Amino acid sequence: MSKIIDGKKIAQNIRMELKDEIKNLKKDGRVPGLTVVMVGNNPASETYVSMKEKAAEEIGINSRLIKKDEDISEKELLDLIDELNNDPAVDGILVQLPLPEHIDEKKVIESIVPDKDVDGFHPINTGRLFSGQEDSLRYEACTPLGIIRMLEREGIEIDGKNATIVGRSNIVGKPIAHLLLERHATVTICHSHTKDLKAETKRADIVVAAVGRAEMITGDMIKEGAVVIDVGINRIDGELLGDVEFESAKEVASRITPVPGGVGPMTIAMLMENTVKARKYHGV
Ligand code: GUN
Repeated sequence: MSKIIDGKKIAQNIRMELKDEIKNLKKDGRVPGLTVVMVGNNPASETYVSMKEKAAEEIGINSRLIKKDEDISEKELLDLIDELNNDPAVDGILVQLPLPEHIDEKKVIESIVPDKDVDGFHPINTGRLFSGQEDSLRYEACTPLGIIRMLEREGIEIDGKNATIVGRSNIVGKPIAHLLLERHATVTICHSHTKDLKAETKRADIVVAAVGRAEMITGDMIKEGAVVIDVGINRIDGELLGDVEFESAKEVASRITPVPGGVGPMTIAMLMENTVKARKYHGV
């Protein structure tokens, strides 16, 4: 087994499985529908959105992109979401973030009906996760869910392991902590006020780096044989770098995700998985 976890390959396998599932749903009467709303033309968002669209089309999801000008009012955006909330052909709604400053992101996220919130950002969905409610009617944020799927597919045991997460964001740090906790890991969340970061990472069997600082986690901070998951995407002088210093960390880790080609492709695959889940929940 390769030491490097090939997220691209795992994501591709999952997408192919979903493609088969969608074929069956089609026979049943309706393919899943995903609507992505994008405001303005942030270049990074353009890239992400086109990757999501491409993945959706490839596996047979009925995907639609609604692009709005940067100067759209908050009210107009909320009205659009209301329309999508009530459209039975739309199973999943994703509003690409960040939004322009004059729009309250929280308000927009909360305006999406929780059962179409395929991003898993709505407080009802995070609340269901944080309070340990069963997952049949709950969406989990795509990046943390992608990490769990990757660990599962690689046969990496979580139960009873020490997992240290570096970063406490709402999108990655907090939800991955809960997903790991639910699977019986002993979880530590580190952040900018953590006194001795190295001591915390060094005793971890699983390290999740989601802090947004290029190559901050170095090999000397990793325990021999640990699994290292790098969520970072840092663009430095035109180069894509993770939060982990790959070369030094791979010498000590038993398994490690690369950047790019690790967690990134899994995030998109999980958006597809959540959209299929939404379709199954909504029915024909
Ligand atoms: N912007 C960067 N990542 C994401 C994501 O996963 N979902 C949304 N909606 N916006 C993002």
